[in-house]
Amino acid sequence: MKKQLLSIMMVMVAGISFAQDAKMNAFITTLMSKMTLEEKIGQLNLITPGWGIPTGSVVSTDVEGKIKSGKVGGLFGVIGADKVKQAQDLVMTHSRLKIPLMFGSDVIHGHKTTFPIPLGISCSWDTALIRQSAVLAAKEATADGLNWAFSPMVDIARDPRWGRVAEGSGEDPFLGSQIARAMVLGYQGNDLASQYTLLACVKHFALYGASEGGRDYNSVDMSRNKMYNEYLAPYKAAVDAGVATVMSSFNDVEGVPASGSKWLLTDLLRKDWKFKGMIVSDYTSINEMSNHRLGDLQAVSAQAIKAGLDMDMVGEGYLSTLKKSLQEKKVAMADIDRACRMVLEAKYKLGLFTDPYRYINPARSTEILTADNRAFARKIASESFVLLRNERNTLPLKPAQRVALIGPLANDKSNMLGTWAVSGDPQMSVPVMTGMQTQTAKMVNLSFAKGANITDDTLLAQKANVFGLRVDIDKRTPEAMLEEALAIARSSDVVVAVVGEASEMSGEAASRGYITLPASQQRLLQALYKTGKPVVVVLLSGRPLVLTGAIEGAASVLQVWHAGIEAGNAIADVLYGVVNPSGKLSMSFPYAVGQIPVYYAQKTTGRPQDPGNKFSSKYLDMPNEPLFPFGYGLSYTRFEYSDLQLSADKLNPGGSITATVTVTNKGSVDGAEVVQLYIEDEVRTITPPAKELKGFRKLMLKAGESSRVEFRIDTELLKFWNANLKWVAEPGLFKVHVGSNSRDTQFKALALN
Ligand code: NOJ
Repeated sequence: MKKQLLSIMMVMVAGISFAQDAKMNAFITTLMSKMTLEEKIGQLNLITPGWGIPTGSVVSTDVEGKIKSGKVGGLFGVIGADKVKQAQDLVMTHSRLKIPLMFGSDVIHGHKTTFPIPLGISCSWDTALIRQSAVLAAKEATADGLNWAFSPMVDIARDPRWGRVAEGSGEDPFLGSQIARAMVLGYQGNDLASQYTLLACVKHFALYGASEGGRDYNSVDMSRNKMYNEYLAPYKAAVDAGVATVMSSFNDVEGVPASGSKWLLTDLLRKDWKFKGMIVSDYTSINEMSNHRLGDLQAVSAQAIKAGLDMDMVGEGYLSTLKKSLQEKKVAMADIDRACRMVLEAKYKLGLFTDPYRYINPARSTEILTADNRAFARKIASESFVLLRNERNTLPLKPAQRVALIGPLANDKSNMLGTWAVSGDPQMSVPVMTGMQTQTAKMVNLSFAKGANITDDTLLAQKANVFGLRVDIDKRTPEAMLEEALAIARSSDVVVAVVGEASEMSGEAASRGYITLPASQQRLLQALYKTGKPVVVVLLSGRPLVLTGAIEGAASVLQVWHAGIEAGNAIADVLYGVVNPSGKLSMSFPYAVGQIPVYYAQKTTGRPQDPGNKFSSKYLDMPNEPLFPFGYGLSYTRFEYSDLQLSADKLNPGGSITATVTVTNKGSVDGAEVVQLYIEDEVRTITPPAKELKGFRKLMLKAGESSRVEFRIDTELLKFWNANLKWVAEPGLFKVHVGSNSRDTQFKALALN
């Protein structure tokens, strides 16, 4: 009965959306019948007047003139209701057909209320919270006149040299897919025409995270097997969640730049995945196909539109060459019509044809940077922190302790927001020192010294200072700074050393070959350890750093990423135990750069690592294992896993079983734990990863409390893309692992009949 009702409802919903689609199609068909070729091509042009922070090296010219003559479909870098209105007015008063502009921006981790960098957010493993972060970002961005967010970035990334690992959700396709879905649903809500929601844009399609050598914009080459099983899932999850737009990536895939790859954009995305929305290029990525040596601007623009790419970001290759290509029959009118329709559909869904000023409401400025949004930023930041070490319960700090707060990032505002905080104002962020002072009410027990520069390397500093002063090299000598720090350390009970990367040492075009702490800070830490005082290292970074050799002397290590506008308060919350840390790594921390890529789902190889066997897969000079594995993270309490049970040890095709485990909070404080389910396939027709994350639950347990956690395992969960790229589950043996991270698990055997 229930099922019947459900299917009747589904048919009704499908009927309504069919009718809505028909209405939209008719509207657009009528509109397009009035458009000239130039106006259609104009809709494909997305440009930036460069009024905001530059996000690429080219800035568009004569933007105003182009808008008036119908040569622009959308703008980005124009933020704020008044500025957006000015631009929309140009179209509405001067252009022939008055087709409203759409306004995009890199709303990546919050808008003006900046949340932690996405890599940090992903370590919360809390999809409800992550979704809410996108809801709030959309609310603030739309109050600022925007209706299109270039987010989420879902590139699987296993090479921390690549600076853009900061923008994604780490190394794992399952976790990445859950987060991709949460972000899309958060941004878009259930009504794109609402003034509080905007178009999401999943990026960078595809495989950008696998750039060779971790060098940005570099080439990518991988087997389809690896693509399908390890890299594509998060993009697909975003498409399945209804993402309205997709951004093509800079890299090539199988020798074809993504922006010109018909296989990627049309065969896979539109045909196989049934993506119905608009595809936009990345910043001048069509033009850059010429650098990839695919031909001149006319040739590559023709290739891109024929491949299925609808909107050209900044490069204006479409604007300047498509007409000629049409005349020379290098593109068809149908290509241009398709692309134009996709852009117009996006605008239609936003409700811009009903009201071009829908997102322009200066009265909504009160919805930006509200106390509630800041409170949310503080909460999500504290959930993103990962406690990597805590010896002798050094943390949480006790209020009576005399704390020496030391480090170049300890009293800093410039580096709290992290990369891609396009609309965030660093000056509004809370430094760690302020957070700790507020936490301890008075600062009687707190003394501060900078101790070292973020780096003494002036060239590196210069590169990190492109968007403003992030690395401020002190006028004092390094020795004088160190002496001051050691003096306060010696007269303290505990040292809190706040060290790490400046914001712009990660992010776009910020690859690093040495991903250690800069030498100045290493020196500081070693000197602090020598004082014999317990040292708590609070580590800011946009990537997993190589910490080998840097943290051995530390009593505690708290990884806090770049934590956003409320960084200092959130860090103090965790240091003083107001919040018990619960973050788990979404990306492995390498032992050394030489191991990269290092990730938990590596294959076992034909000669699995064996210390007793010379001829096995290993290094002579370092372990195979990362320093901290995926899924890892400590708490101020201790969780015990016991009594793992499967409801059956055999599974029939199409059937399901449950795995249950008891998790007990054995400590004396309440805490949250992320219980992780991994599946290991013991026999497969293609080589499987050692194990794969297939489920997780974050639960809150009071001190002493136990909970039985249940995972449903069905055949779908055991499937993979086989050698013929068919999605199959193969009979045979599996191990069902449950544990607190990818390394420390217990398992039960399961057979698939
Ligand atoms: C280039 C980046 O790759 C992309 O992520 C971003 O959205 C665009 N620039 C626009 O700023």
